[in-house]
Amino acid sequence: MKVFLDCASLSDIARYNDDDSISGITTNPTLLKRAGVTDYADFAKRALNLTEKPISFEVISDDLSGMASQAKTIASWSPHAWVKIPVTNTRGYNTDSLVEGLLREGIHVNVTAVFTSAQLHKFGSAMMGTTPSIISIFAGRVSDTGVNPVPLFEEAATLFDCSNTEVLWASPRSVFDYYTAERAGADIITMTPDLIAKLQLRDYDLNAYSRDTVNQ
Ligand code: E4P
Repeated sequence: MKVFLDCASLSDIARYNDDDSISGITTNPTLLKRAGVTDYADFAKRALNLTEKPISFEVISDDLSGMASQAKTIASWSPHAWVKIPVTNTRGYNTDSLVEGLLREGIHVNVTAVFTSAQLHKFGSAMMGTTPSIISIFAGRVSDTGVNPVPLFEEAATLFDCSNTEVLWASPRSVFDYYTAERAGADIITMTPDLIAKLQLRDYDLNAYSRDTVNQ
């Protein structure tokens, strides 16, 4: 399973550029706003210059024609720019036809904010073409509601098995999500720098960890 860096920081993107264990980057408008980014295009172009790894940038329009034109703009910035398209707009209108059209034009799409089995099925046929794509299931937010997200990944693994679509475990809540995602058949997990740092603890002796904790 590949690990993507989920961030809104140019210094983090630069820092992880030489780290071969990080295969790509995701950003989102909320993270960027929280980080104080005011010029979205400027940030994105700088980020794209810092790395050759795929980076996802989300459209911010709420109507489908606006999303289409923003997607084309984002894709024009670099061959490694991926376009995040939300699974619906704020009125609940599905974006599957838009996604199908963008993929047909060769634009790399990351369908984001996927929460349900019905959404997976809706996008199944839209994402069967030759252009590589990603479908991001918000596992952490699904589990916030008390629902186990793992069956969604098992279903997605079957649905997208013979496609060029990779299934991404988004919104992890702890480093244990990495291991759950791996077992559930996810192709990618996106993690914030603090969670990525904790991956170093893999197989760390629990007695030693207990003593470290007592020392603290
Ligand atoms: C993924 O692409 C998203 O940016 C991210 O994982 C969202 O996570 P959140 O639930 O913490 O907002």
